Amino acid sequence: TIIVLDYGSQYNQLIARRIREIGVFSELKSHKISASEIKELAPKGIILSGGPNSVYEEGAFDIDPEIFKLGIPVLGICYGMQLMMHKLGGLVESASEAEYGVAPLELKKDNALFSGTPSPQNVLMSHGDRVTAIPESFSVTATSPNSPFAAVEDEAHNFFGIQFHPEVRHSEYGKNILRNFALNICGAKGDWSMENFIEMQISTIRKKVGNKRVLLGLSGGVDSSVVGVLLNHAIGDQLTSIFVDHGFLRKGEADQVMETLSGKFGLNIIKVDAQKRFMNKLNGLSDPEQKRKIIGAEFIAVFDDEATKLDGIEFLAQGTLYTDVIESGTDTAAVIKSHHNVGGLPEDMQFSLIEPLNTLFKDEVRALGTQLGMPDEIVWRQPFPGPGLAIRVLGDMTNEKLETVRESDAILREEITAAGLERDVWQYFTVNTDVKSVGVMGDQRTYDYTIAVRAITSIDGMTADFAKLPWEVLSKISNRIVNEVSHVNRIVYDVTPKPPATVEWQ
Ligand code: XMP
Repeated sequence: TIIVLDYGSQYNQLIARRIREIGVFSELKSHKISASEIKELAPKGIILSGGPNSVYEEGAFDIDPEIFKLGIPVLGICYGMQLMMHKLGGLVESASEAEYGVAPLELKKDNALFSGTPSPQNVLMSHGDRVTAIPESFSVTATSPNSPFAAVEDEAHNFFGIQFHPEVRHSEYGKNILRNFALNICGAKGDWSMENFIEMQISTIRKKVGNKRVLLGLSGGVDSSVVGVLLNHAIGDQLTSIFVDHGFLRKGEADQVMETLSGKFGLNIIKVDAQKRFMNKLNGLSDPEQKRKIIGAEFIAVFDDEATKLDGIEFLAQGTLYTDVIESGTDTAAVIKSHHNVGGLPEDMQFSLIEPLNTLFKDEVRALGTQLGMPDEIVWRQPFPGPGLAIRVLGDMTNEKLETVRESDAILREEITAAGLERDVWQYFTVNTDVKSVGVMGDQRTYDYTIAVRAITSIDGMTADFAKLPWEVLSKISNRIVNEVSHVNRIVYDVTPKPPATVEWQ
């Protein structure tokens, strides 16, 4: 293991991820970790991440100085390097010119960290402060136009500092540098894989749970499904999953979840058919935020009703991902996080949390699911909002409009799959716009709903562009929807990026 101490950089999650790509397990830990806690973890190496602080600023994130006495190699990145210099007798000052962007790095001597990489090489710099003097035991290994101490080392102690960010792709040889650190300097084996992760998680979960019972809220999405299968491997019948069908799932989805997770993987699932209960609450409502609130609250109420029927549950499992862990490592209070899909559980439900995915990125979770033998339909499922199809019915909520969305969405999905575009398009769905227009079918005048087709490309849902679907595919989708779905006579394609539009229509 190589641990990354978190100093708050926007890139720190990427560092751990790059190390895992190299085949060495890595995870983020709070910068408040003590030397003795680290000793217990016995990592092969320690990386100090970047961060927004200045080392001399009051309340700047600190490090237990005893960590430098453990005999474990340390790599300081950006703020991490400045902190190491500051602690070991160097000097850090505010730079007259901040250095942001790609800069050429000039190597000054042969050195284990840069072994096999050329000089000059492009690296990404992003810092306001800079090191102006280094401790006696250190020497300079590389410079950049604005940083006379762009990289330093204390060879005897295996301490390394780099001012740039090796974890981002703009640093051309960043991955080689991290590999040199992890494998050559720290001596990690590089044979870690998802399989090891599964074994490790299973044993951790067993140890933590003992003979107690665990509850899981299954949504049918990738994350909670993977957690379910993983926990089922670890503790079998001690896991009870609750799957609430609120009636706004896609066509066939509830059955598929049950068939796969209960049927094939043998999970013990309590399926709650709450369609009527939700519809009664939403009937006639049109305000989107009100819909979201009511669905969230009702979801909790249903989950709560079911959970209180069960005895002796001590743990709640959640599919929280690395990207959801906003606060640094162990600093986050262990209260129940309001999961945006679940909407947060009542405070009086006292569970300890089990979050086996909280060190992983989405694509790593997919790899884990595949490794666990889960089918692509679940592992590669597109993002689906917690309130489901309810936020894709504009205007008053009615059964008729809901069915136009459910049926048209099913056709869209079939055609996207048939065209082999599933993995190119990030998310695709249909919306009942609540607009009625005049059409003609046979010799009859019709006055029916307009369905909008939305298909987007995106990396994270934060920004998006509309997918440039081939005309033939759009044409087929349009034809099928107007012919096969009742009360629909017009299809429009949404060609707006995000921003200014959002992905969903409400
Ligand atoms: P927007 O519409 O905000 O969507 O551009 C960005 C991503 O978030 C999803 N989304 C939601 N997910 N509950 C969720 O769990 C919600 O209320 C919700 N609203 C939007 C949306 O599908 C897209 O992937």
